[in-house]
Amino acid sequence: MRILGIESSCDETAAAVVESGRIVHSSIIASQIDVHRIFGGVVPEIAAREHLKVIAQIVDEALAEASCDLADIDGIAVTRGPGLIGALLVGISYAKGLAMAAAKPLIPVNHVHAHIHGAALGLPIDIGELMPCLALVVSGGHTNLYYMTGPTQMDLIGHGIDDACGESFDKVAKLFGLGYPGGPHIERLAKQGDPKRFEMPRMVDDSRMLAFSYSGLKTHMVNLRHRLGAKITDQDIADLCAGFQEEALGQLVRKLKQASRVYKARSLLIAGGVAANQRFRELVQAELDLDAYFPQLRYCSDNAAMIAALGYYNFNDHREPNSVFQTYDWDAFSRYQDE
Ligand code: KG4
Ligand code: ZN
Repeated sequence: MRILGIESSCDETAAAVVESGRIVHSSIIASQIDVHRIFGGVVPEIAAREHLKVIAQIVDEALAEASCDLADIDGIAVTRGPGLIGALLVGISYAKGLAMAAAKPLIPVNHVHAHIHGAALGLPIDIGELMPCLALVVSGGHTNLYYMTGPTQMDLIGHGIDDACGESFDKVAKLFGLGYPGGPHIERLAKQGDPKRFEMPRMVDDSRMLAFSYSGLKTHMVNLRHRLGAKITDQDIADLCAGFQEEALGQLVRKLKQASRVYKARSLLIAGGVAANQRFRELVQAELDLDAYFPQLRYCSDNAAMIAALGYYNFNDHREPNSVFQTYDWDAFSRYQDE
């Protein structure tokens, strides 16, 4: 079964054709990052307009690269939320139009849940074979930990209570005048720094508390930055980045360890932009006993292959004749709403 996926929740317009939830026939991504860079973050109204400019072409490219047309597609999966509402509406409206015109099922997909499927794309086995598992989504908007018992069965067991992990990388990078997004800049500088030089606070250190917190660590970085003042050197910045990164990632590893003691999991799936961090991958491999699966780099950040993948499993869950996937009267949900 082939699903066409469409993603437009933030600053990437993407379309993909995926078979059986994991075989990627095409995955096209148009990034708007250059348009937003000068603002130091994504501007929602500009994002929506940029999606509108390219969405038709991106969908056409995804179909062409997969050597198929709409007639060969079994369903259209689209990101319903969470995301920027104007940006979401572009993808959703386009997908609704396409589904109605071609009389195809339309499958709304939760973007954060879909990230998890990014970690299984291209594997030789079905994601179902990794269950039960712990799944961590670490992105610019979410730090969510799930216990999964099936491809669509996600129980949220821990989440961020203030800044998301990726968001703290972005804010700390901004503090030092590094570029946006901040994660890759911090990772690069951290390689040249001494993570032990500056002491970092351990947030949410209570081992019974399955929650994530990054605003205290960020504030600590702001204070250190002010204390060093104008005489801050490149080496100081590298040491600060190394210390921050070690603690930011260390918190994720501590919480994963904690969860693995409570929940019986046979594997660990890690996804979202921060999953691209090589130091994070090293720490997880070194400190956790579970088989860990990270996405290929192109599936860490936003893409439509992960949307098509989860869309496939959602579709399989509800294939009765009067399927929910024949209805079009549902709406987007924003970054601050839950499904
Ligand atoms: O999943 P994503 O592409 O977008 C959403 O937020 O949905 O995640 C982007 C986040 C940004 O905050 C970015 O700084 C972070 O992922 N990121 C990284 C790295 N690459 C991207 N954080 C740490 N290390 C990286 N190498
Ligand atoms: Zn995302």
